[in-house]
Amino acid sequence: MNNFIFYSPTEFVFGKETELQTGTLVKKYRGSKALIVYGGGSVIRSGLLDRVKKSLDEAHIAHIELGGVQPNPTDPKVYEGIELGRRENVDFLLPVGGGSVIDTAKAIAAGIPYQGDFWDFFTGKAIPQTALRLGVVLTIPAAGSEGSGNSVITKADGLKKLSLRTPEVLRPAFAVMNPEVTYTLPAWQTASGITDMMAHIMERYFTNTPDTEVTDRLCEGTLKAIIKEARTVIKEPYNYGARANIMWAGTVAHNGICGTGREEDWASHFMEHEMSALYDVTHGAGLAVIFPAWLTYMADHNVGKIAQFAERVWDVPASADLKAVALEGIARFKTFLHEIGMPTTFGELGIEHPDIGLLVAHLHENKGEQIGSYVRLDRQASREIYEIAN
Ligand code: NZQ
Ligand code: ZN
Repeated sequence: MNNFIFYSPTEFVFGKETELQTGTLVKKYRGSKALIVYGGGSVIRSGLLDRVKKSLDEAHIAHIELGGVQPNPTDPKVYEGIELGRRENVDFLLPVGGGSVIDTAKAIAAGIPYQGDFWDFFTGKAIPQTALRLGVVLTIPAAGSEGSGNSVITKADGLKKLSLRTPEVLRPAFAVMNPEVTYTLPAWQTASGITDMMAHIMERYFTNTPDTEVTDRLCEGTLKAIIKEARTVIKEPYNYGARANIMWAGTVAHNGICGTGREEDWASHFMEHEMSALYDVTHGAGLAVIFPAWLTYMADHNVGKIAQFAERVWDVPASADLKAVALEGIARFKTFLHEIGMPTTFGELGIEHPDIGLLVAHLHENKGEQIGSYVRLDRQASREIYEIAN
């Protein structure tokens, strides 16, 4: 096991009607004027935004709004938010939504006190030293942004999707999580979210770090729980227990606990980010296409942990033929993805003729000549994986 620091100070307030505590929480974390950020309108239609605003009013927190964040969020909305937040002198960011809304709010929170261009943080030109405080009202279990210090934004001009990771500065002070608000999710978003959280665990699970028994079992156990609850939630969208377990799994998957003491991989995420930058696909659905292809490539290049995943997560009987075990596990994973309505090829994702040359070029220009760690991937290897997915 590697040395590590695990610092996860977010206060999670989980359960029915918890959104009614939002105002009290903003006050507790010293907010007096909040910029509420939301997406394309689902929170208006569901009545959630009104309940949140009522709770702010009751706690005497002033508030203004910035709506219209789109999935795979882009930089113009961040600039708009920075300008609005400065003009209106807000001291707190309150995203009400999913990863796209939260990530936009995080970028605004870091951008408001910064003299330069917020995009500097995403290119690595600057590191945020400070940010406005931020609390989250989560509406979709998926990206795990409610418990992460990350933000992922696409530069609309040039379609560069880059991420910023500064847990010390950008981790939300609190996250309000009411599973009931996820009842209105379209099945596609529910399934994409499930795939994304599984991928967050798998990016951490596939490692060459030895002696990681506790985190191996944490990852495997959480994956098994997600698979079980996913099957229920897809059939019974109003099942509170299943929605609640899926919602908490999304946080456990990405708040860092599953990665403690181990080297992580993240090549599949980098590969998917190029797909969602270029084709604007739903992040989780893109991962449903890439991850099985990545696993298939790994069955040939570093089979050990892929076979362990097959045995322990997908109940494939152990055998000396590790590759056969691994491939059976991958087949079961794909069957599951189809069961919940996910694609597993570019074609099924609606991209008949992916420009693999361009994806590979963008990937290595944006992320470096070598990506991942379970097996380092060069241009040739990432091309092979995109081709397996095709
Ligand atoms: O915009 P509205 O109208 O709210 O609709 C949204 C959106 O269309 C809808 N939705 C959300 N909650 C709903 C709902 N519809 C009905 N009822 C509800 N309760 O779902 C759609 C997708 O929302 P989005 O925020 O895009 O989803 P998600 O949470 O999957 O976020 C995806 C983004 O997060 C990034 C992804 O790359 C992508 O840009 N990621 C962020 C990470 C992080 N910050 O740590 C890590 C991830 O790996 C990921 O890369
Ligand atoms: Zn993800």
